[in-house]
Amino acid sequence: MTDCPKNSSPVIRDLIALRSSRRAFLQGAASVGTIAAGGFVGSLFAGEGFAAASTSSLGFTELKRVYDKDMAVADGYSAHVVAKWGDPMTSAGKAFAGVPTAAEQAVSFGYNCDYIAFMSLPKGSQSSDHGLLCVNNEYISPNVIFPGMTEDDAGKKMTKEQVDFGMAAMGHSIVEIKLGTEGWQVVQDSAYNRRLTLETPMELTGPVVGHDLVKTKDDPEGRMVKGTNYNCGGGVTPWGTVLTCEEGASDTFGGSIEGLPAKALLERYGFDGSDFYGRARFHDRFDMTKEPNEPNRFDWVVEIDPYAPDSVPKKRTALGRMSHEASTVVLNKDGRVVVYMGDDDYFEYVYRFVSKNAYDPAKPESGKDLLDEGVLSVARYNEDGTLDWLPVVHGEGPLTTEKGFASQADVLLKTRLAADALGATPMDRPEDIETNPVTGRVYAVMTKNKKRKQDKLNPANTRPENLWGHIVEMIPPGGRGTDADHTAAKYTWDIFVLAGNPSDPAIKASFHPETSSNGWFVCPDNISFDPAGRLWVATDGANDFDLPDGIYAVDTEGPGRGLPKLLFTCPTGAEATGPCFTPDGTTLFISVQHPAENAETLDKVETLWPDFKGELPRPSVIAIRKADGGAIGA
Ligand code: FEO
Ligand code: CA
Ligand code: CA
Ligand code: CA
Repeated sequence: MTDCPKNSSPVIRDLIALRSSRRAFLQGAASVGTIAAGGFVGSLFAGEGFAAASTSSLGFTELKRVYDKDMAVADGYSAHVVAKWGDPMTSAGKAFAGVPTAAEQAVSFGYNCDYIAFMSLPKGSQSSDHGLLCVNNEYISPNVIFPGMTEDDAGKKMTKEQVDFGMAAMGHSIVEIKLGTEGWQVVQDSAYNRRLTLETPMELTGPVVGHDLVKTKDDPEGRMVKGTNYNCGGGVTPWGTVLTCEEGASDTFGGSIEGLPAKALLERYGFDGSDFYGRARFHDRFDMTKEPNEPNRFDWVVEIDPYAPDSVPKKRTALGRMSHEASTVVLNKDGRVVVYMGDDDYFEYVYRFVSKNAYDPAKPESGKDLLDEGVLSVARYNEDGTLDWLPVVHGEGPLTTEKGFASQADVLLKTRLAADALGATPMDRPEDIETNPVTGRVYAVMTKNKKRKQDKLNPANTRPENLWGHIVEMIPPGGRGTDADHTAAKYTWDIFVLAGNPSDPAIKASFHPETSSNGWFVCPDNISFDPAGRLWVATDGANDFDLPDGIYAVDTEGPGRGLPKLLFTCPTGAEATGPCFTPDGTTLFISVQHPAENAETLDKVETLWPDFKGELPRPSVIAIRKADGGAIGA
């Protein structure tokens, strides 16, 4: 969602900050941060061969940046729609000129596509022409779906039928796809085709199961949840499952939190009763006055087995509770599984989970429930360029019963409060995090943070009113590639790029000095690595600068380090999300999310992308291919 965060919760955290010795650190960082920013530019440009003539490893001619009603891709490439909102998943389904009913929507491709996983078929293969397209459907845009509604009043105006349609249009869509002479096509009637919605039964697993704060009238044992919500980022496990991230349910609930026993917790997670999609008017479980624990059953990472259409998705509570973004899985050299995660809100944190047990690739079943036991930790970026992973573990440091954390389940339910107490580094809206398969380095994307003031700067977030975002590079010890130790307690870190227009010195952007007027970007959001170790950046927020959101590729090492090139631009109002490569790197799937959403109401839309007929724009997954069928970017 453009300007995604649903929560605003500075009060408690600010109080904690004032009480802690960290205040002195933050104040000190205000001046240090400015110096550090300059230092980072120096280290970026002076290091690794920057004195030599710089050359990008990317072989394509950069796209000229135009903000248009249609998408555009660089010369020598094609971009085609694979699946769009409302596409029926079975041959019995119909194509919709308008808005489907909830029942129809529940068997059709969902709205506002986001994170994409391509899961090869047959299972376990590295096939790049046949697989399952597993796609998050983050939210709906009522202002460009229903006539006469704005973003602000839709929650009060939607009928029950419209609300129920919305609940069926979010979640996740799985379709089988094949690459043929006509490009990628969905296989209708595939047994794999499946929708997950707010009605799909899901199991809570891990430490939080049965905690009093997840018990409801419908689920007195606190173990089965109906549905998933705001599915934004994600990840893929080595055992062939998909992780989908619930990114902050705070504005999807109604009712007052005044007088509720868990009021402070609900506040810290931003629940304000705003009922943005009108659910509480028709469904008691979304009214916090009637069902005060239902909110605690969201904001988890959910594991889905796309190869088993009847399987029950699992909400893995050991991974913590936050506005989850990214759940990038790394198989560490000792067999333990590491998951990198961001909490996408102003001044929230970067997290890591390390499994207790090892995964055995020879026995894929060893991955089952591996994510239920392990150590969650949160990042503190130190001024000296080191990074500490602080364990979010009951009984350690301030996370004790006396301080309000009764058990590990309690710690996980209150992950944000635990991270506050530990003194983690508040970041500029952490979104995606990915690991470079070649170097083993980890990249965490900060989309932007207009709320950061001069007195809240810290070494990893160096610009006040950061409207442009930046990318932080985290370096595990141990060596390159698979030698990197993603379980180490201490890493080092650096700033990879500071986004924004480098020709405006006031912005203090830092890219490679040869970055073109089309190549710099703002608001980096989702990222992906190609098999050659190049970083692909999707942006969310360029429209605020009268620029299109799009896809940029950038080397992370060598002479082209920090030199982005523009490959693709979205149509008006849309952001680019979910970049995902096939294993051989010859197809890049992109979610084009919320086209035309910048219009106040449906009658004012500036584009009817991608069909350019009828009355509705349609969020869609597209496939980018090189004309010669070669690797993208080569
Ligand atoms: Fe849904 Fe953080 O973007
Ligand atoms: Ca975003
Ligand atoms: Ca996003
Ligand atoms: Ca990603």
